[in-house]
Amino acid sequence: MKLRDVKLSKRELKDLVSTYMIETYERFDFIAETAKDMYLYDENGEGYLDFYGGIAVNSAGNCNEKVVEAVKEQVEDIMHTFNYPYTIPQAVLAKLICDTIGMDKIFYQNTGTESNEAMIKMARKYGVEKYGPNRFNIVTARNGFHGRTYGSMSATGQPDNGCQIGFKPMISGFSYADFNDLQSFKDACTENTIAIMIEPLQGEGGVHPATQEFMRGIRAFCDEKGMLLLLDEVQTGWCRTGKIMAYMDYEIKPDIVSMAKAMGGGMPIGAICATKEVAKAFNLGAHGSTYGGNAVCCAASYAQINELLDRDLAGNAEKMGKYFAGKLKELPHVVEVRGKGLLIGVEFDQNIAAQVKHDCLDKKLLITSIGGTIIRMIPPLILDEKDCDKAFDIIREVVEKITA
Ligand SMILES: Cc1ncc(COP(=O)(O)O)c(C=O)c1O
Repeated sequence: MKLRDVKLSKRELKDLVSTYMIETYERFDFIAETAKDMYLYDENGEGYLDFYGGIAVNSAGNCNEKVVEAVKEQVEDIMHTFNYPYTIPQAVLAKLICDTIGMDKIFYQNTGTESNEAMIKMARKYGVEKYGPNRFNIVTARNGFHGRTYGSMSATGQPDNGCQIGFKPMISGFSYADFNDLQSFKDACTENTIAIMIEPLQGEGGVHPATQEFMRGIRAFCDEKGMLLLLDEVQTGWCRTGKIMAYMDYEIKPDIVSMAKAMGGGMPIGAICATKEVAKAFNLGAHGSTYGGNAVCCAASYAQINELLDRDLAGNAEKMGKYFAGKLKELPHVVEVRGKGLLIGVEFDQNIAAQVKHDCLDKKLLITSIGGTIIRMIPPLILDEKDCDKAFDIIREVVEKITA
């Protein structure tokens, strides 16, 4: 839909939004009318260089041709059936995902938070069925982020942060430990703990990758205590960090992993993958979703994942991530450049992150900020050195001006 189709001006469209929509987002002040590869275009056809990728979604580029084609074809064949009949996209996607990431079974959901709900439910059911009614507790990391529904919010170890404020009480059965501190997790687990749930790289929490020692230590500790390792790869999954899944960098495997965002290439789909043994907890009727496994979303995901793999976009994420992070270290007032692949955070020594984001927008570069001091870049993984150079020049100019 284009602005001219609905015969509205930009001002009139913004008025519709403020009159009729419940607004919880701080909007970028432009209308995203079309998009292609590394750019979003406004109603005047002006391009915005995309370094946030719809928050780590459009990893094979905005409106990737293969994904668009797959959606168009599937829409004409069959759009939605619910999960009573078999459908072809679900089946071929299941094999592709499980074979590619070395997991046994998949259950489809629609979003990241919903996938985490499924992961939490599966772990709890597995725990109480295998060990008895009290073994359902889950230990998660402080400063993590798992989503906005109650299970995921409760798993999010940020009790004093925005996402939980006003929504208490959270659901019981969660306790928190310090990320990258194995002893803290050991201390937080009891005989009633069934799982540890973490992100391999805390994204919303400020871009902090797990250390090798921590991740391997957590896996070994879970094995020793008969606990499950649940990994939230909603943001890190599907090539973002330079590996197909971030856990592959640690030579470990989770018992359950959640995913969403990049797997759909712009269509809403999420999933959990589990080992055969743990997956048994979801027997007939145990869990469900009307749209989970929707034919169009699965067809889009099949095209998207094939694109990510065929073009080795994990390899490009690793290469370009190193190049871009190297340049970003040259910025003034930088405390640290953190991240992996193309999930990069820059922490400044001053509260300038929001201003940097706004001023970059004025120069038609789209980035995000976290808290007062961190800017985050999560671009499509197709970018090249020229895109990095262009983004860097804008960010440098903006930071120099703000801190002059
Ligand atoms: C690690 C992680 N988990 C879960 C979520 C929630 O995903 P969704 O917004 O699709 O519900 C996010 C979203 O940013 C995330 O980064």
